[in-house]
Amino acid sequence: MSRFAGKTAFITGGASGMGLGMAHAFAEASMRVVIADLRQDALDAAMAGFSKTDHAVLPVRLDVTDRARWVDAVEEVEAAFGNIHVLMNNAGVGLTGTLETMTYKDWDFSLGVNLGGVINGLTTLLPRMKTHGEGGHILATSSTAGLTAVTGAGMYTAAKFAVTGLMETLAGELQGTNIGVSVFFPGPVSTNLGATTHAVRPAHLQNDVTLPDPISPPAVDTSVFMSKEEVGQRVLRGMERNDLFIFSHPEFSEGIRARNDALMRAIPREPTNDARVAVIRQFGSLLYNPIYDTQADGPGPFRHAAANAAS
Ligand code: NAI
Repeated sequence: MSRFAGKTAFITGGASGMGLGMAHAFAEASMRVVIADLRQDALDAAMAGFSKTDHAVLPVRLDVTDRARWVDAVEEVEAAFGNIHVLMNNAGVGLTGTLETMTYKDWDFSLGVNLGGVINGLTTLLPRMKTHGEGGHILATSSTAGLTAVTGAGMYTAAKFAVTGLMETLAGELQGTNIGVSVFFPGPVSTNLGATTHAVRPAHLQNDVTLPDPISPPAVDTSVFMSKEEVGQRVLRGMERNDLFIFSHPEFSEGIRARNDALMRAIPREPTNDARVAVIRQFGSLLYNPIYDTQADGPGPFRHAAANAAS
């Protein structure tokens, strides 16, 4: 039985892709689930996939960039389900292209959803979660692009690095409370990201002219992408374990290690100044953040992992 059974989860971007996979995993763990999404048609289609008798699922129309609507949406949920215990800031858009081709409208659209949406969710719900005091968990979907730069996707990389930093900071601020924090780093997952990115882009942030991108995306075999259902189960497991970092894929260790190694090589190999160390220590976690000590060792093979590796 899940320790989150009976708790209420609010998932943005919950009508499609990974958010919907998490909604199913959470509902099967006997949680009450809110799927919040911009697209009403997607909410309707998603609701058809839940059992009316076994699952307590509420669809809520929300544009995560709309701060006033956030408050109304949360109040609607509280009226129906009571306090919200789990916030999963997952909604995102996948706008890519080299930095020279990006317009201010591209930046405003991409950062508005991918970073602004996370900030808005946190600002709306964190005080309420602290006030009700019943405990819970806050998560956000970053990306492996939130840990290693993806050439040709600088805008996405910048937003996802920011989400990673935001969530790590939050983990420090909530250490010792009854609210856990996880940041989720998915690799390639079979979702509708390409299509929904175009569908949700508002008229005032459309480009007048679209410049051709000098880097064309490779044609890839999407059949090996992970399913949203598996992703949902992996996120649930990470939340149950109170993991700071949740990965979906085992394939990214090489790139992450390469970045960490590059950083270590760049640090001046000179004797450190003890007085300076003492001063930096006064800035709290600037020198050393104990949140990184809390990450448990790898969660081990997932029950679908063999099938996944074989396919
Ligand atoms: P998806 O497109 O299937 O689902 C995203 C959902 O977010 C959609 O239902 C969409 O309507 C909603 N959404 C978009 N803008 C919104 C807004 N302003 N307000 C409310 N809802 C909004 O895509 P997917 O892949 O499931 O995306 C979920 C998250 O995963 C995103 O943050 C994405 O950046 C991230 N991600 C996806 C990867 C992939 O391989 N699909 C890999 C790494 C990260």
